[in-house]
Amino acid sequence: MKVLLVLLVLLVLVDGRVFERCQWARTMKSSGMDGYRNVSLANWMCLTYWESRYDTLAVNHNRDKSTDFGIFQINSRWWCNDTRIRTANGCRIMCEQLLSDDVGVAIGCAKRVVRDPQGIAAWVGWRTHCKNQDVSKYLQGCGLDSSLL
Ligand SMILES: *[C@@H]1O[C@H](CO)[C@@H](O)[C@H](O)[C@H]1NC(C)=O
Ligand SMILES: *[C@@H]1O[C@H](CO)[C@@H](O)[C@H](O)[C@H]1NC(C)=O
Repeated sequence: MKVLLVLLVLLVLVDGRVFERCQWARTMKSSGMDGYRNVSLANWMCLTYWESRYDTLAVNHNRDKSTDFGIFQINSRWWCNDTRIRTANGCRIMCEQLLSDDVGVAIGCAKRVVRDPQGIAAWVGWRTHCKNQDVSKYLQGCGLDSSLL
């Protein structure tokens, strides 16, 4: 029993940062992401696959000295405070909060980003890999239907 518990804890620690695909889909669905601003769950899945491979700890530095944070790869220049770049803090958060495996802050901030006029096209990963593509495969086998395409 004790051994099992230790193993479980280890598994959570090791795997905690990267979501399993369908688990991430269910998490986004229960957070009201399916159809949010007319963006289907399958498109959110495609976007986060290409941006971070569903990794909450993904961090990538850009040439303009801004940084993209977390599972949605949200940019520090416009959306959060990383104490380095100070153009705007649209989500009113510290960028590190976007790296939590408790993804509430990241999802709230992604909703804020998509409310801007350019919508989901704000994400290069989406424009490059998901726009005008059949994105249904990202939900395949999850037992979830995406409300829209
Ligand atoms: C979503 O799509 C509907 C139907 O095309 C449209 O009327 C509505 O304005 C859209 N909403 C947003 C937030 O884009
Ligand atoms: C960013 O966070 C730092 C550290 O908490 C704070 O000193 C600074 O005022 C913040 N900057 C902005 C633009 O919010």
